[in-house]
Amino acid sequence: MNKKKNKKIKKMTKKKNKNNKKKHLIKRPKKIQVRRENKINNNQFQDNAAPVIVQHKKYLPKSLRGMEDILPEEGKYWDFVLQKAQDLAEDYGFKKIETPVLEERVLFEKSTGMTTEVVEKQMYQFTDRGQNQVALRPEFTPSMVRAYIEHGMFSLSQPIKLFCFGPLFRYERPQSGRLRQFHQINLEVLGSDKPVSDAQVILFCKTFFEVLGIKVSIQINSLGCSECRKVYRSKLINYFKSKRNRLCPDCQKRLIRNPLRILDCKQEGCKDLITDAPQIVDSLCENCHSHFVKVLECLDEAEVAYELNPFLVRGLDYYTRTVFEILPIRTEVVAIKKDSKLEEKKEGENKEPLPADKQVEVAPVIPSMSALGGGGRYDNLVGELSGRETPALGVAFGVERIIEELKYQNIRISKERAPKIFLAQLGELAMRRSLKLLEDLRKEGFRVAENLAKDSLRAQLEMANKIGVKLTLILGQQEMSDKTIIFRDMSSGNQETIDQEKMIKELRKRI
Ligand code: HAM
Repeated sequence: MNKKKNKKIKKMTKKKNKNNKKKHLIKRPKKIQVRRENKINNNQFQDNAAPVIVQHKKYLPKSLRGMEDILPEEGKYWDFVLQKAQDLAEDYGFKKIETPVLEERVLFEKSTGMTTEVVEKQMYQFTDRGQNQVALRPEFTPSMVRAYIEHGMFSLSQPIKLFCFGPLFRYERPQSGRLRQFHQINLEVLGSDKPVSDAQVILFCKTFFEVLGIKVSIQINSLGCSECRKVYRSKLINYFKSKRNRLCPDCQKRLIRNPLRILDCKQEGCKDLITDAPQIVDSLCENCHSHFVKVLECLDEAEVAYELNPFLVRGLDYYTRTVFEILPIRTEVVAIKKDSKLEEKKEGENKEPLPADKQVEVAPVIPSMSALGGGGRYDNLVGELSGRETPALGVAFGVERIIEELKYQNIRISKERAPKIFLAQLGELAMRRSLKLLEDLRKEGFRVAENLAKDSLRAQLEMANKIGVKLTLILGQQEMSDKTIIFRDMSSGNQETIDQEKMIKELRKRI
């Protein structure tokens, strides 16, 4: 029987080798191109001339600018943030949804807005092979609204609460906290115009950052409805008209196209002018004013601390009424202990957070341009895309920025479920048996580390030590024939031989 099997295997490997040889003949390695014909004198070819070898520059693969790998050592941060977000979203009654990364370009033009930076300058857009104009999603909200309309969610009990996570794409100038591919955790509430819904989404933000352990400031404003904005727009134009020359070139254009965007400008000259600009709260109509007051009352009731920011406008076209942003609060070291003397911190000194014993005096600061999340109401968007008026609101959090903040604020996160057991094997038979043994242990709920590719027991024990497991199981030739296994206590080095039958029971006692 075994002889037959061996013959069959030999035949198969022979065949395989033949095929491999053929394949090798067909595929010439690309790096080296051999030109067999050499051109000499006008259009004459010399057949037996030595071939010229053209060596191409070696291709070194690398990721695109602003698009980052998430390496295994980052995994614990991602798991931590996503797990907390998902648990909390479920507690608040949000249901998970996933949509494609590619959508019709026009969806974003009609929702995010043609004059927004995101659509005008940052969208990854192209014509696909079927001549369709498509775009990689730069944000989730338009896709959520599209899915709500396309799947007739109007007919379900309202509001619909959706939760999603995934990558988004914006062709920005990459810098810290600003990537071309980044990830958001996104929540939408469709089908409610009640101020309490605004307050509930903002309360979610407060709780989420509390759970993560990040200190934040919640900034809030109201943009009113289109009627309020008409009034405010003319007040803004009147105010900035006489100061036009002091505005940056971009804001001079914004003054004509979209004066509200001036309020978002980060240029020092513009920022000075913005301080004294008229505030939108003074232009809110009765209904919008009443809505805003009720949102704030609900927030007070829920003990959510917030800051009114009269110049918060957000950069997307669909917003109406409530808008908000979440900014991290960092503590900045203002004085440092040097040789047990207290000295004022100099400009640029010790940018990194200091250990608690050295950090003598601290003050809270809110770094600009670093929103961890933002959102607001968009009461007209569903109606504009479907003809069915549906008030809605939502929020999105930037995952990379949250992780950066966790690291900056030195927040300890719970450890991964690290293995407490290592399975070491010695010899061909034990190595093969280990495959099945690992499976049995996994099914019993044990996470077991191993390195089946290593033959040396010493190397395997070193690895077990490095991982920091409590127990190493050793399976060798002797144990295979005795149907036993060795339990090695990694802290004492003591070894015990246990019947394989009793292994699970013993493990439960010791782990
Ligand atoms: P957004 O303010 O454009 O809003 O983005 C939300 C968050 O995503 C930002 O606060 C930031 O943390 C993160 N983010 C944005 N751009 C980048 C980037 N280039 N690199 C890294 N992180 C980034 C929205 O996207 C809206 N759709 C939010 C919303 C949902 N409004 C209503 N519903």
